[in-house]
Amino acid sequence: MLKTFAQAATVDPPEEVLMTEFAREMDVRPLAPPQRHAEVFRMFDALLPGQAMLLVNDHEPKPLLKHFQTQRSDLFDWSVLERGPERFRVAIRRRAQDGTRNVTEYLEGDHQRLDALLDRVQQSSEAGAFAEASESFSEFACGLDWHIGAEEHVLFPAFEKASHMIGGPTMVMRGEHIEIRRRMEGISRALAEGRADEIGPAIDELREVLAAHNMKEEHMLYPMADEAMGSPGEQDELVRRIQAF
Ligand SMILES: [Fe+2]
Ligand SMILES: [Fe+2]
Repeated sequence: MLKTFAQAATVDPPEEVLMTEFAREMDVRPLAPPQRHAEVFRMFDALLPGQAMLLVNDHEPKPLLKHFQTQRSDLFDWSVLERGPERFRVAIRRRAQDGTRNVTEYLEGDHQRLDALLDRVQQSSEAGAFAEASESFSEFACGLDWHIGAEEHVLFPAFEKASHMIGGPTMVMRGEHIEIRRRMEGISRALAEGRADEIGPAIDELREVLAAHNMKEEHMLYPMADEAMGSPGEQDELVRRIQAF
């Protein structure tokens, strides 16, 4: 049974720790390519549950992600913080609870990670630290761009195919994504042009739009997608396809 929006407001947050700080960092650029994966796995295996490591690379580490999906299946979370052109940064977190998960758990966790990053942008901006605010906003925009892309290119088509619901909730969410992207670009321009007085109100407005959008996804669309997928194994398979986007 799906929760109503009123019930949704009282739901407890997930137990897993948010990925906002790093226990370890590794720049693999000086390492010979054949050594890189082994070194990253060694550092990852030393993390405690809930801890994260920051990986810096000179290309998008998609082969490493595939390697993690086969070698450390269901043990990690992967978030892209910077996507080139010269430097790529990825946060790899050891999950506090391992095992399979469904779309609702996975993408709700990503919403919370992005909310925490937006809080950091606002705190830095209010303190007058615009370089830090811009840096955090770049990570937020990279993450939200990935999140929306993964929904539109992997989740929504999978849901539409399984449920035969085309032109329903996914059409509404795609429309809201356009508005979210427009607001995100507005904040990016205000930060780049140093229009400090516009940043706080613009972040508040984006947060309001995102909160309503995320609530609809977390309590309607994602559970409908999980139900349409069927078994826990099929739900987890979709999570892996989203993760690999
Ligand atoms: Fe969305
Ligand atoms: Fe979402």
